[in-house]
Amino acid sequence: MILSTNSFEDPQSQRGFWQKTYGNFISKPPAPLEDLIYQGWLSLPLSDGSWKKRYFVLTSKKLLYCKSQKDIRIRKEACIDWKILKPFYEIKKNSKAFGFKLQGSNNSQDFYVDSKDILEDWLSRLSPLTILTDFDEDYSLQKEIGRGNYSKVFMAIEYLNRQPYAVKTIPKESQNQSFIDTLKSEIEVMRKIKHPRIITLHYVYETEEAFHLVMDYVRGGELQRRLKMGKYPEHIAAAFMRNLLDVIDFLHNNGIVHRDIKPENILVLSGDNYTEFKLCDFGLSALLKQTEDLSLRCGSPGFVAPEILRRQRYSTKVDLFSAGVICYIMLTGKYPFTGSSPNEILLKNRECRIDFDLEEWNNISKLGRDFVMSLTQENPEQRPSAHEALCHPWISGTHTTQQGLAIPEEMKNKGISLNLMQRQKKLNVESSSYLQQFRRPAVPIKGFIPIKDNGITMAKSRLLMKILREEDREGINEVKQIFDIKSNSTRSKESQESTDATPSRSRYLPVN
Ligand SMILES: Nc1ncnc2c1ncn2[C@@H]1O[C@H](COP(=O)(O)OP(=O)(O)O)[C@@H](O)[C@H]1O
Ligand SMILES: [Mg+2]
Repeated sequence: MILSTNSFEDPQSQRGFWQKTYGNFISKPPAPLEDLIYQGWLSLPLSDGSWKKRYFVLTSKKLLYCKSQKDIRIRKEACIDWKILKPFYEIKKNSKAFGFKLQGSNNSQDFYVDSKDILEDWLSRLSPLTILTDFDEDYSLQKEIGRGNYSKVFMAIEYLNRQPYAVKTIPKESQNQSFIDTLKSEIEVMRKIKHPRIITLHYVYETEEAFHLVMDYVRGGELQRRLKMGKYPEHIAAAFMRNLLDVIDFLHNNGIVHRDIKPENILVLSGDNYTEFKLCDFGLSALLKQTEDLSLRCGSPGFVAPEILRRQRYSTKVDLFSAGVICYIMLTGKYPFTGSSPNEILLKNRECRIDFDLEEWNNISKLGRDFVMSLTQENPEQRPSAHEALCHPWISGTHTTQQGLAIPEEMKNKGISLNLMQRQKKLNVESSSYLQQFRRPAVPIKGFIPIKDNGITMAKSRLLMKILREEDREGINEVKQIFDIKSNSTRSKESQESTDATPSRSRYLPVN
């Protein structure tokens, strides 16, 4: 089944499937060769039932129709990033044919291949770059593990490889085009970045009811929960911050500003590891040209940089401010901006008066205090970049590596910031009239970062399975039944528990 509407692709944007490049033939080879993902022969069906075989080059966003294998000058090209990918299998006059369809909102193209192996090769490369549809055939939702303003996140099991994934599900109901543009921006940013401390987005699905983003599953929970256990010893906080700055530096070097760095969006890997994590939630992130300033007001109260709240143009330095707030909480167990309402927090956040005279600072080294002061500096000009912050002696000094990263037992028992966490929970009530003034923005897409690593993924076998003979699929159906029984019996209870335990999340997007 192909969806009647493809909400990701703007129906106005393209008339035909193929766009001609520069005239009938271009005179130069395809420019983004570093972005080349795959190349090979595909056959296109002709109206008389025959096929014409042509050579194609796949990049992260386009399928390029080339003159020939030896001369890969581009004849025409098709954008593929928001197209639906469907493999197919036909038997005609005793002969079998394999292939796949790329379906846009008002156009489509069938491609045929010579063998299942070749089909598998193409599907494995295309599936992370396009939109898939048969979500329920591929995954079994097991339990709710998180919630955002517009989404629920589930742990899901992939039927074929039986591995767990995190699936961010966004219901389509009441979502408008500007929301879809924001979601596209989140997907586009995540598809472009590969970093061990950033959640990998594997696949995107669109069904009649919802969008699903299939990501790495991180078991350890949010940093928010970890902070409840108490203050971090200084050397562990420094090791954590070094890792966080490393990720921020990577993002900024690739022209991405996250704009929503906060403990809910940092997922700790597991159990007793306090310094390793994965950064998630690129819903507010933006791609920018190197010299460009940003002006859209967005972020989360208590973590957002003051220049954003002061309606000033701002830069990637806003992420450093948020990182500084996290470090303040880690070292003191206190939030720098508190209040009994979101307005109060935002006002203090905007004024940026941060208390460094608390007695909690007495036990912290001068270097540590100096580091947090520099990151939470209200003037972004004087705030260090991620690269500069990495060179701060508190981060680069030997004490972060020499002491080892074992967590003192007392840390687990202290629970000193529980009250703070509860207060934060209250402030995140979505029904607040203040919050209702805000909405998610449409973030413009600019810049381009080639995807370097495009190894074969599990999707290849999974998509291929759909076109295999029925008896081949029986094994899969058995696995599916096992998971379905499990998920049906546990889901309602677990999602109830998680509804009680998960505070509603707020993200603040003033309408100018
Ligand atoms: N890959 C993941 N693994 C485990 N939990 C996740 C994952 N992604 C998100 N979550 C959980 O779901 C919550 C909401 O996800 P997030 O992407 O932040 O959504 P939103 O954009 O709506 O805030 C996160 O704060 C986290 O608790
Ligand atoms: Mg979030």
